[in-house]
Amino acid sequence: MPIGLAIIGAGYWGPNLVRTALATPAFRLDWLCDLRAERAKAVLGPYTTVRPTDSFDAVLADPAVAAVAIATPAATHFDLVRSALEAGKHVLVEKPLTPSAAEGEKLASLALRSGLVLMCDHTYCYTPAVQRIRELIRGGEIGEVQFIDSVRINLGLVQPDVDVLWDLAPHDLSILDFVLPEHVTPVAVAAHIGDPIGADRACLAHLSMWLSNGALAHVHVNWLSPTKIRTAVFGGSRRTIVWDDTNPAARLAVHDRGVDTLEAGSVPQDERRQALVSYRTGDTLIPALPEREALMSVMTEFGAAIDEGRLPLTDAGAGSQRERRIQFGLRFEF
Ligand SMILES: NC(=O)c1ccc[n+]([C@@H]2O[C@H](COP(=O)([O-])OP(=O)(O)OC[C@H]3O[C@@H](n4cnc5c(N)ncnc54)[C@H](O)[C@@H]3O)[C@@H](O)[C@H]2O)c1
Repeated sequence: MPIGLAIIGAGYWGPNLVRTALATPAFRLDWLCDLRAERAKAVLGPYTTVRPTDSFDAVLADPAVAAVAIATPAATHFDLVRSALEAGKHVLVEKPLTPSAAEGEKLASLALRSGLVLMCDHTYCYTPAVQRIRELIRGGEIGEVQFIDSVRINLGLVQPDVDVLWDLAPHDLSILDFVLPEHVTPVAVAAHIGDPIGADRACLAHLSMWLSNGALAHVHVNWLSPTKIRTAVFGGSRRTIVWDDTNPAARLAVHDRGVDTLEAGSVPQDERRQALVSYRTGDTLIPALPEREALMSVMTEFGAAIDEGRLPLTDAGAGSQRERRIQFGLRFEF
């Protein structure tokens, strides 16, 4: 029996949820809700059994709806998610879960207490590239992670309710949380922000995280860059992964190139300065990745978590912890 679903928000991202929900056998899409009912109607088109509405209350009052997927602006997430959970609905919510860690934690514990799924759409965790990076790192292929450099820059919309860190960095943080081994966690965070256009909010930001194994991770997010760059480098003691998400022919490359360190005792004192590191130049491997739409996997995982009564892969509890790390960084720095 398919799960009755309502989608809230029919702006830029909502139609992607509509398309993927309609193609997911686990769900029966019943409603599309937007404050602009005309927009919901336009997204659905004339040949549909899905009902458009501008009333969130009408959706929550419908006993046939067991789950909602929310794609409204971040500032609305807390109230909408809380109302949906209080009405007994399972929830998939877009990133960021909420624009404050305290609110995110309240929602995560409300879901847990109510026995409901609260999943955050950290879409990148469902891409074949990120899943392969996780396998490579967690399987020990690259050795100990030594550094991470993630760049996510583009000409982006200046959001009315959140700054660039809250808009874009959840992607990078969710990826790091997903791919790093369990024992590698952030121990300190610092963020530097810029608002060179006077938008009254950060439009570019550099986030540094010191990790428990001595590695340093850096994330650069920027709404003002005329060129689109989406790369991340995961440097390890054995190999280095380079991910270029704008290059579909070779999104991932695994380089057997890097720096080997020698035992201090193995090098005579007078040769130490030159000999403590040696450079390794080996092959580069381009892993074959399946072509699969990540958002389809998000929908499938949401349905499976509801059916099986388990936490989803990108559970909101993880979302709130990650976002607390960002907030810690902001408090720490400013
Ligand atoms: N996962 C991803 O890769 C990804 C990509 C883009 C956006 N997003 C996220 O999706 C969310 C929405 O972003 P967007 O760019 O689509 O925004 P948008 O402004 O284009 O659309 C939001 C829609 O929500 C409607 N809305 C606002 N408040 C509402 C309410 N209370 N009830 C019903 N409808 C309401 C608005 O009328 C609007 O149509 C954000 O959290 C954003 O971060 C995620």
